[in-house]
Amino acid sequence: MSRMYDRFLQGAEDAGLAAWRRELLRSARGEVLELGAGTGGNLTLYPEGVSRLVLSEPDRHMRAILQRKLGPREDVEVLAAPAEALPFPRQSFDTVVATLVLCSVEEPARALSEIHRVLRPGGTFLFLEHVGAPAGTWTRRAQALLEPVWTRLAGNCHLTRETGPLLEAAGFELAPCTEEPLPGSTTLTGRSIRGVAHPLPARRTGSSPGSS
Ligand SMILES: C[S@@+](CC[C@H](N)C(=O)[O-])C[C@H]1O[C@@H](n2cnc3c(N)ncnc32)[C@H](O)[C@@H]1O
Repeated sequence: MSRMYDRFLQGAEDAGLAAWRRELLRSARGEVLELGAGTGGNLTLYPEGVSRLVLSEPDRHMRAILQRKLGPREDVEVLAAPAEALPFPRQSFDTVVATLVLCSVEEPARALSEIHRVLRPGGTFLFLEHVGAPAGTWTRRAQALLEPVWTRLAGNCHLTRETGPLLEAAGFELAPCTEEPLPGSTTLTGRSIRGVAHPLPARRTGSSPGSS
């Protein structure tokens, strides 16, 4: 899959995904951590205000392509850590980026808790993700039905992921967040959200009613 990935995504990139990436990454600044960087689709889009760029990619095949694209660049750090276990002290980054990643992570709540932990106060989480169709729709039923097979065929990609509510439960404030059909996508992966999330101070998070 990793070798085919860029070719597979080219239609979506041309149909608008590349423009979405560019717009999203415009606000990346300071020390930046990108999770599940894949084959480096965002690499050329980071603006000048980025002082440090760390790319994490647990899949070794994806990582090999990423390393090849980076070539001799020594200003970018690459590591294999999964989003659920980030090897950084708390408040290490100004910006964390995830594009089309949270659908694939094994434990999204844990990954979001890690992102919250490594972000500095006032930092930003920039995300672009496909999410499950609204509950009760035929598309959602089809997604639920196909998901066990889909995850095996598509690198653990989950069709029904509720990334918006998961972000809020992890202590993030979404501002702003755009919901639009994913460019060049099928109905099954067509609903997407993208935008900026800010970590709320830890004391305001948690599961008690009215605490977020
Ligand atoms: C659909 S690809 C997206 C790649 C890239 N971010 C992009 O925008 O093109 C999903 C990526 O998430 C990575 N991934 C899967 N599980 C992960 C995890 N637990 N932590 C971090 N990345 C993960 C995969 O290896 C893969 O590179």
